[in-house]
Amino acid sequence: MQPIPDLDILQPTSSAPDLAEGIDAPRTLGQETDARDGQRRVYIETYGCQMNVADSELVASILGAEGYGLTQQEDEADVVLINTCAIREKAEDRVRGRLAKFRAKKVQTKPDLTIGVLGCMAERLRTKLLDQEKLVDVVVGPDAYRDLPRLLAETAETGQAAVNVHLSREETYADLAPVRYDSNGISAFVSIMRGCDNMCAFCVVPFTRGRERSRPVTSILAECSQLVDLGYKEVTVLGQNVNSYRVDADGHAVDFAELLYRISLLSPELRIRYSTSHPKDCSDALLHVHRERPTVCDFIHLPVQHGSTEVLRRMRRTYTREQYLDLIERARSIVPGIAFSTDIIAGFCGETDEEHAETLSLMEQVRYDHAFMFAYSERPHTYAARKFEDNVPEAVKKRRLAEIITLQNQTSLDLNRQRIGQRYTVLVEGLSRKSDAQLCGRTDTNHMVVFDREDYAPGEYVEVEVTGCTSATLLGHAIRQTTLVEEAV
Ligand code: SAH
Ligand code: SF4
Ligand code: F3S
Repeated sequence: MQPIPDLDILQPTSSAPDLAEGIDAPRTLGQETDARDGQRRVYIETYGCQMNVADSELVASILGAEGYGLTQQEDEADVVLINTCAIREKAEDRVRGRLAKFRAKKVQTKPDLTIGVLGCMAERLRTKLLDQEKLVDVVVGPDAYRDLPRLLAETAETGQAAVNVHLSREETYADLAPVRYDSNGISAFVSIMRGCDNMCAFCVVPFTRGRERSRPVTSILAECSQLVDLGYKEVTVLGQNVNSYRVDADGHAVDFAELLYRISLLSPELRIRYSTSHPKDCSDALLHVHRERPTVCDFIHLPVQHGSTEVLRRMRRTYTREQYLDLIERARSIVPGIAFSTDIIAGFCGETDEEHAETLSLMEQVRYDHAFMFAYSERPHTYAARKFEDNVPEAVKKRRLAEIITLQNQTSLDLNRQRIGQRYTVLVEGLSRKSDAQLCGRTDTNHMVVFDREDYAPGEYVEVEVTGCTSATLLGHAIRQTTLVEEAV
């Protein structure tokens, strides 16, 4: 699927980690569990990025330990939790719509229903949601999920709203094993850090998720190793800026390159991906790990945001157009065949036609395999909201975004066409969406491939020859089952 204009929910998962796919529908957890006697059933709806999806799995695990049951049917729930996203205005509008709907239900037919807001809107909107709009009973920020059982009990007991939006400098939930309710048993997310210190001018995340902190390396390795034991074939390590990961382990600093290297030693059959990385932290050491470790996928989501050095400066991205292009060139020389995706914002404050043209020319130069493309949406309290005027008219933003999308679609199609006739190792994730007679899975470079099922099964590595394509998907036929060890020889 190609990125959609106005995409205001970020790339949550399909049943597998899905770095290149945007969706415009919320996620619900893919499994039901019974409640312990007397305990209530919870329905969790997740908006936003993969971090939120991973957090919903943590929340499910925390509540499961207290005896709460989990339902996929909102009508069966005693507790409705919405894990929210604040990245663009539309994302927030959608959540408000859902909250109003649940509120109406509570008022009209289900007075005992508890409605909770989790995640990135919690911090920002707690007063409004609680006092002015009276939409919710519980508000819990991303660092306070351990407190959720207490807050739910409190509101049930007192009938008053319960709130904890404290942002922590330490919380990484390192000791908690997420329940993989949203997993296909093949690919899993592993959170390695929380928060962000970058303060890009347009971005609300540092305000909603707080300061950056890295999870201890031993607990990350333990979780990955457990996933290997459970038969998982792919992990995607997650953070807002994973390549600034840094911890002190026994007096020795472990950075992101070393962390990936260590994960790659766990199993020769475990593919490793990550999201998201910032160009300023993409070191040569990291590129060499891609080159030397066959299980570290040759794909990087490397958001550029804009093609003009002047706009990048206003955005506070800390690199120039030239530095970014040099990095792409260096990566391609160290890791031949590496694929890239990116994020791009159209219509940032003060963007001129000439500056917009620089985004198009950078895209032509890099030739990304995929991109997530957005119209700028001003967010309260950000540097841009305080210092600049959101002065590009909506119609101009839309036109520029449409030009960016058209160019990307053409590039994706051209690049996919060049892959026809080539063979790739695909990790089968499941049945294709369109037909039970076909399977789908990804190449090392994160390209989705669909091919006839024959006797192949999810979780297998299959060598596939590409015979056709669309701009979003490669089509092919299976040659044989394989392994990563075999492929690397
Ligand atoms: N931490 C990640 C991305 C987080 S948000 C990173 O730095 O790469 C994902 C994307 O949403 C951003 O890369 C950016 O392209 C987009 N985005 C963030 N704030 C936005 C805003 N105010 N308006 C439009 N798009 C925005
Ligand atoms: Fe936002 Fe920038 Fe941090 Fe990404 S790196 S989360 S865009 S502040
Ligand atoms: Fe949205 Fe929060 Fe993720 S604002 S993009 S859910 S970090």
